[in-house]
Amino acid sequence: MSSLTLPPLRAAAGSVRLPGSKSISNRMLLLAALAEGTTEIRDLLDSDDTRVMLAALQTVGVGITVLGSSAWRVEGCGGVFPVKDADLFMGNAGTAIRPLTAALALSGGHYRLSGVPRMHERPIGDLVDGLLQIGADVRYTGTPGFPPLAIHPARIELTGPIRLRGDVSSQFLTALLMALPLTGAEASIEMTTELISKPYIEITLNLMARFGVEVRREGWQRFTIPAGQRYRSPGLLHVEGDASAASYFLAAGAIGGGPVRVEGVGRNSIQGDVRFADALQAIGARIEWGEQFIEASAPESGKLKAFDLDLNQIPDAAMTLAVAALFADGRCVLRNIASWRVKETDRIAAMATELRKLGATVEEGADYIAVSPASTLNAGAAIDTYDDHRMAMCFSLAALGGVSVAINDPQCVNKTFPDYFDALAEITAPVIAIDGPSASGKGTVAERVAAVLGYHYLDSGSLYRLTALAAARADVLLDDEAGVAALAASLPAIFEGGRVLLAGDDVTDAIRTEEVSAGASKVAALPAVRAALLARQRAYRRFPGLVADGRDMGSVVFPAAMAKVFLTASAQVRAERRYKQLIAKGMPANMHALLQDLQERDARDAQRSVAPLRQCDDADLVDTTPLDIDAAVAAVMTIVKRQQGKSGNS
Ligand code: DC
Repeated sequence: MSSLTLPPLRAAAGSVRLPGSKSISNRMLLLAALAEGTTEIRDLLDSDDTRVMLAALQTVGVGITVLGSSAWRVEGCGGVFPVKDADLFMGNAGTAIRPLTAALALSGGHYRLSGVPRMHERPIGDLVDGLLQIGADVRYTGTPGFPPLAIHPARIELTGPIRLRGDVSSQFLTALLMALPLTGAEASIEMTTELISKPYIEITLNLMARFGVEVRREGWQRFTIPAGQRYRSPGLLHVEGDASAASYFLAAGAIGGGPVRVEGVGRNSIQGDVRFADALQAIGARIEWGEQFIEASAPESGKLKAFDLDLNQIPDAAMTLAVAALFADGRCVLRNIASWRVKETDRIAAMATELRKLGATVEEGADYIAVSPASTLNAGAAIDTYDDHRMAMCFSLAALGGVSVAINDPQCVNKTFPDYFDALAEITAPVIAIDGPSASGKGTVAERVAAVLGYHYLDSGSLYRLTALAAARADVLLDDEAGVAALAASLPAIFEGGRVLLAGDDVTDAIRTEEVSAGASKVAALPAVRAALLARQRAYRRFPGLVADGRDMGSVVFPAAMAKVFLTASAQVRAERRYKQLIAKGMPANMHALLQDLQERDARDAQRSVAPLRQCDDADLVDTTPLDIDAAVAAVMTIVKRQQGKSGNS
């Protein structure tokens, strides 16, 4: 069993681009497959569950091609799957097996659907009952009421309304709604129980409408699909960012200070889970809404308020609130969440067990959970994830309590968010920013500090050096801002065991020549180049932490860095150090020219309009003029320790 140990985290700030919504991705894929015409879907989620859907549709003969990163073309089959006999493996993807079962049951073929063992414990009986009422031939080949299933051709007859339960999973209604237009006849569904998770039905109806099928809805009781409607491709569609996934980062902002911005969903989202932001606001967080973003910051008071909420409308995002409860000022009750019991795992039981490991007192009921937080979290808890992506994601937030937390089987996040921990690291992993002028020794010091702490290391200057070298090699003039920025945006650079490769060529020494140094200083003054390198630099922020050196690590790239150091030395001493380095490497060197060069570069770095070299107000000054390397490392470590102590980090 693998495990990921998250370090104690002190703060969360920054922005995260969300992956595509799972709910929207899988619905769009199926509707595009059932439609007449070709659909291009952009920003599709790339995860286990969408791969299950893509593979199943391909198996039944739907033409699907990848157009580029996260864009797909689906050739609609007009409601008739070309392959009439197939075995389909559905993994643990509820959003795939439920709607496909309904669509396949109405499409006149022989199909067998199965999944992982947990899938065979997740109910599907209410859906099968609904399908049997209209003459479909769907049989259980394992335990009655559960997958695996065998489907055979049958005569579908729509007489009275289909009577359907809606209190176990709303996906059964989604499945029937999406499949029934295939019959061409008027069809209606009548709920025999309260319908849970209604916002997911809104997603379904919204997407069906985009494919040209209108559903008449009478309250949440009865749904009628008028006769003669067919799905027609709308051509091009975009998948919104995943609002359930947004919940982890918004909660991180609310717990860890913020602001944390999620990009890809906003105030016009069709996903009910964006209402999670309202719940966070209700318990004290500060929330800002944009067209395409939501942002969360901690309450003015610093602490989230205890709550008692009915969370039936946002069952998935509600799990995030259960972990956020660890940071509230009293007992928190999450009500009306019975559906948790039949999800990827029994989420009520799993949540209770794992929250207790962190020291909380938890009371568990059939359809609720109550969490009383302890005053401090237990450090070093090993959290089991039950093959449930959401368990892994929401429990990662516990590390914001300033304790290390181990997440067992972290790869379960692949179900919906393969890059989750990298995205979390980009807003929470501790950063030590070391800025300063050329030859101040910051590179050597930063690398040594990173080694002591076991952190990653970013030499940001090398990215500017590589850009200058790449420009020289491509004959792009250094004052061609757009041209140089384009090179910077897609630098084929790899850092490997102390070596630097550019397009596979070892340029470790080539980027250190005086000529490249001068070129780097010039390209670094170009705003478009700095912008092009920003995301790349931030992506170095990984667990357990990062030491980054440069000119603007503390001011621009990592403004919320845990520790900021401004490392400098007199120009004379810096020129002497550079001179010795060059001589040691057998390279020609002239003391006077070096000093002049350094002073020119210092002036250019300090005077440029964007991100000029300067000491941030919140940075500590370390003057290494009288210090050797060991002493400089020790001085920086003293600052780091002090900052770690402040934040409760160990
Ligand atoms: O640290 P260095 O000497 O390798 O940096 C090379 C050049 O890149 C230097 O002229 C300043 C510039 N630079 C920058 O502007 N911002 C950074 N974060 C790092 C380097």
